[in-house]
Amino acid sequence: MTVRDTMNRPLHDLRISVTDRCNFRCTYCMPKEVFGADFQFLQRDALLSFEEIERLACVFVELGVEKLRITGGEPLVRRDLPLLIGKLAAIPGLRDLTLTTNGSLLRAQAQALKDAGLQRITVSLDSLDDAIFQKMNDVGVPVARVLDGIAAAREAGLWPIKVNAVVERGVNDGTIVELARHFQGTGIILRFIEFMDVGTTNAWNLERVVPLREMVEMIDRELPIEPAEPNYRGEVAKRWQYRDGSGEIGFISSISQPFCGDCTRARLSPEGSLYTCLFGSRGHDLRAVLRDGASDEELKDAVSAVWRVRDDRYSEIRTAATEPLARVEMSHIGG
Ligand code: GTP
Ligand code: 5AD
Ligand code: SF4
Ligand code: SF4
Repeated sequence: MTVRDTMNRPLHDLRISVTDRCNFRCTYCMPKEVFGADFQFLQRDALLSFEEIERLACVFVELGVEKLRITGGEPLVRRDLPLLIGKLAAIPGLRDLTLTTNGSLLRAQAQALKDAGLQRITVSLDSLDDAIFQKMNDVGVPVARVLDGIAAAREAGLWPIKVNAVVERGVNDGTIVELARHFQGTGIILRFIEFMDVGTTNAWNLERVVPLREMVEMIDRELPIEPAEPNYRGEVAKRWQYRDGSGEIGFISSISQPFCGDCTRARLSPEGSLYTCLFGSRGHDLRAVLRDGASDEELKDAVSAVWRVRDDRYSEIRTAATEPLARVEMSHIGG
């Protein structure tokens, strides 16, 4: 059974955030001034247990979800994560199980994640320049540590690997060609993300966004590229390829070329709230339904009731003047 929203978009992907905590403080996501020592993260009993996540995931799969992505915060700080991966990997009907991580803890966990059934992985890395990267992660993690995490993922057989880089004008835009050159020909797919106005704490403004067109020009000048066909309808990244046949590279242009029309993504927060848009201001409390003793049928009804009335298309209707309303933080809901 496939459930569709008011714009006829099916529910196809579920992104599950397993924690609101992270060991990085990326300035565009968890600025230290806000996420400091006294910031109140979720308490343990507020988090969905692995059993609860598994149960909800099954319900979503029955409603048409084929693709699961684990996010955070930083998902690898959630204790015993491979146990959850093992449960999710066993769900019949699931076609894709992956995870987005900052890579800093990957060396220690890559093999266990692979053994548990994780198929592939996406690692965030914004620059190869240590000074710039450390300024962005704001906790002093060096580039080498993330590259080593990526190497560990590759050795463990997590494949394909994608690397996400958020591009902020005046911060790391001078290093994107170097990043492209580093991954060119390795089979690892690099994607540059336009800095987005997610949440309300990252001091976003349009001047700090480097639009896709400009990024393409910067790269094309040194490493010639041409557009490639999308892999599937609704793919978030615009695919390009090197003209010399040395692989592909992507751009995620939520600001300059929004892609809401094909958005089939639901997001589950660590405490079990269902969000139908990355820019949502409030979620729908599925944990309460679960802990009230709902049957699978009742859970299914609760999810489809939310999806059927969905009309989100934030990126298409935002303007430079869009006021930051109450909006869920990226570190809470995952990317
Ligand atoms: P693949 O399954 O590998 O194609 O992954 P994906 O393209 O969905 O990539 P990923 O989950 O790594 O998303 C990359 C980034 O794109 C996220 O971290 C977000 O920053 C952004 N993104 C993903 N989905 C959405 C979305 O629905 N809306 C907006 N505005 N941005 C999104
Ligand atoms: N704009 C664009 N991308 C962001 N990410 C986090 N915050 C933002 C933002 N404001 C990215 C991370 C990671 C993914 C989960 O989302 O760098 O790659
Ligand atoms: Fe952590 Fe990712 Fe946010 Fe950086 S972008 S603070 S690594 S959750
Ligand atoms: Fe989907 Fe919302 Fe992103 Fe549009 S802005 S693509 S509706 S998550």
